[in-house]
Amino acid sequence: MKILLRGVTRKFGSQTVLDAVDFEVGFAHTLALIGPSGGGKSTLLRLLAGLDSPDAGEILVNGEPLPQDEESLRRHRSRTGIVFQAYNLFPHLSALGNVMLPLTAVHGLDASTARDRAMDVLKRFHLAEHTAKQPGQLSGGQRQRVAIARALAVDPAFLLLDEPTSALDPEMTAEVLDVIAELRESGKPIILVTHEMGFARRSADRVAFIAQGGVLECASAEEFFDNPSKPVLKQFLERILKY
Ligand SMILES: Nc1ncnc2c1ncn2[C@@H]1O[C@H](COP(=O)(O)OP(=O)(O)O)[C@@H](O)[C@H]1O
Ligand SMILES: [Mg+2]
Repeated sequence: MKILLRGVTRKFGSQTVLDAVDFEVGFAHTLALIGPSGGGKSTLLRLLAGLDSPDAGEILVNGEPLPQDEESLRRHRSRTGIVFQAYNLFPHLSALGNVMLPLTAVHGLDASTARDRAMDVLKRFHLAEHTAKQPGQLSGGQRQRVAIARALAVDPAFLLLDEPTSALDPEMTAEVLDVIAELRESGKPIILVTHEMGFARRSADRVAFIAQGGVLECASAEEFFDNPSKPVLKQFLERILKY
């Protein structure tokens, strides 16, 4: 997968979160985005998802500029799988209902086709016994696995995961990271915002550091963690790897 940003700027009021960012990256499967809180990681992910548009500049995904008009943006969103930190399931629907909803409502599948497809994906994520439960009856790890299953069920071009484990305890974190690692087999490219440095190091093809209004460093996982070139990245890594 290839991502190209040309002069991408996003401001909120007087705050410039992304400041004329030029960035190009190609990766086989997983790109990890790391950086300090408030650095602009979620903002970048929302732009890539077509949930938000830059104030200036353009973004190309695999050589195609992201659309500007609402109609094409809606189409782009429907082909993008998105999983947020937490609480992104509909509380009144079962796990099965949550996975089926985009298939019927957005992609126009009939109920029985949607049900078959949703069951397949839920089984793949070891959720077969939990399909009838509502989110409130599932553990945090199971909920995030349902969210990942829902994102993948629509056969998206790629997946965007925004800190999918940050609301989970260590055991559930491991359970969800296992599922994300298994996604490699699906061949779907993933862009993952994470604070799990061990996971980024092991599973990401490329790691990018987002801070101070831009992408300050982007390298292979090994180079990124073993040989960070920018002092600000060194400081960031020392601080978070300290404990
Ligand atoms: N919709 C918004 N309205 C106002 N400010 C926003 C909005 N979205 C993000 N911001 C601000 O932009 C900055 C970057 O946010 P974000 O991209 O969420 O950072 P990160 O995900 O790296 O923690 C933060 O200071 C945040 O408060
Ligand atoms: Mg964020």
